Amino acid sequence: MAVDLLLGLQWGDEGKGKIVDVLTSKYDIIARFQGGPNAGHTLEFDGIKHVLRTIPSGIFHENSMNLIGNGVVIDPVVFIQELEGLKQFNIDFKSKLLLSRKAHVILPTHRLLDAASEASKGKAKIGSTLKGIGPSYMDKTGRNGIRLGDLELNSWKEKYRALANKHEELIAFHSVDIQYNLQEMEDEFFKAVETLKELTFIDSEEYLHQAQKSGKTILAEGAQGSLLDIDFGTYPFVTSSNTTAAGACTGLGVAPGQIGEVYGIFKAYTTRVGSGPFPTELFDEVGAKMAKVGHEFGAVTGRPRRCGWLDLVALKYTCQVNGVTQLMMMKGDVLSGFDELKVCTAYSYKGKEITHLPYNIEPENVTPIYSVFKCWKEDLTKMRETSKFPKELNTYIDFLEKELELPIKVVSVGPDRTQTIHR
Ligand code: IMP
Repeated sequence: MAVDLLLGLQWGDEGKGKIVDVLTSKYDIIARFQGGPNAGHTLEFDGIKHVLRTIPSGIFHENSMNLIGNGVVIDPVVFIQELEGLKQFNIDFKSKLLLSRKAHVILPTHRLLDAASEASKGKAKIGSTLKGIGPSYMDKTGRNGIRLGDLELNSWKEKYRALANKHEELIAFHSVDIQYNLQEMEDEFFKAVETLKELTFIDSEEYLHQAQKSGKTILAEGAQGSLLDIDFGTYPFVTSSNTTAAGACTGLGVAPGQIGEVYGIFKAYTTRVGSGPFPTELFDEVGAKMAKVGHEFGAVTGRPRRCGWLDLVALKYTCQVNGVTQLMMMKGDVLSGFDELKVCTAYSYKGKEITHLPYNIEPENVTPIYSVFKCWKEDLTKMRETSKFPKELNTYIDFLEKELELPIKVVSVGPDRTQTIHR
């Protein structure tokens, strides 16, 4: 069986959690392959809202197994808090949640290093979620990291101590004022590690190979968005993992030829948290309205998200890099009642009109060129069938499909499971 992928095509927060939740009943296994607690996947059903960070979005479905792959970085402290937050659902985590022994551990000093690194950058800061993501991936590629499998060995604390000491030297090297009590952080960390060890650690690539062989259906759930990919995103204002399709291969041990459907999720407009270029960003009341109506505040940090028009130059690029096979458009309802809608179809770049994403999309290099559309007035949130869609919305969708050369199979008109319209 092929492994299907679900990916965010913008700067994250596209609504992946909701779509995985909707798709989950079709899959036996839901697997996370990259990122860590910097993610915040929001799911809403039965009038309750849940935010998942590291745990796959299939956890609420009775019949799906959930896997945290080798490409993920896990903070035991945040992870245990996440489990605690789900206590009310009586989920048997030991049997429903599997963790790869090859996943790396975020240490308390990784979080401190993240803070020190950001503080030392001043105005050039990335706008990191400060969850220790960058420093833990640095230790992974620097071949110094601690993996979940190490926690099963008696000697892991020696390795921990050596690494934490080195981190403390690095924190001091940054010469910024970071206040911390490592003893307290470590007490909390060691306690969390013991609880984490009660869960099921596995050799996940073998598990997935066997699952594929026996015909199980697998959905790989991406975190963040393609424009935050360490290679293809707006570097250096990116996260530290491959958020694009190839990341699912390295983050799970799935061969490229075994990737099946690639679901690409995008918002009907664009948002971004943290720093970095954003060509279609709006600084006026139109952007403020998008933020207000769309409740655009970070699920993890609570920070307000920057808002702007849909950018088809960027979206085409991420569809290509990921090999997207079908699209899902989120938050269509947020745009109801705007005076007009704009879609960026090209950039003016060094005096020329271009339709590909250039190396540098800083504002001094690119100016968006827009197509303008009439907006619909109707409230979409109560609609459950495409036949009820206003004609302006159909015109908008048809235009996007033509430009992107891909079908938009789902239009989401609200946060609830039921507000998901299949086309
Ligand atoms: P980090 O991954 O926490 O270091 O953050 C790096 C950049 O990615 C920052 O601009 C963050 O705001 C952004 N980022 C990280 N995770 C997410 C996410 O789940 N959604 C949206 N942006 C994210």
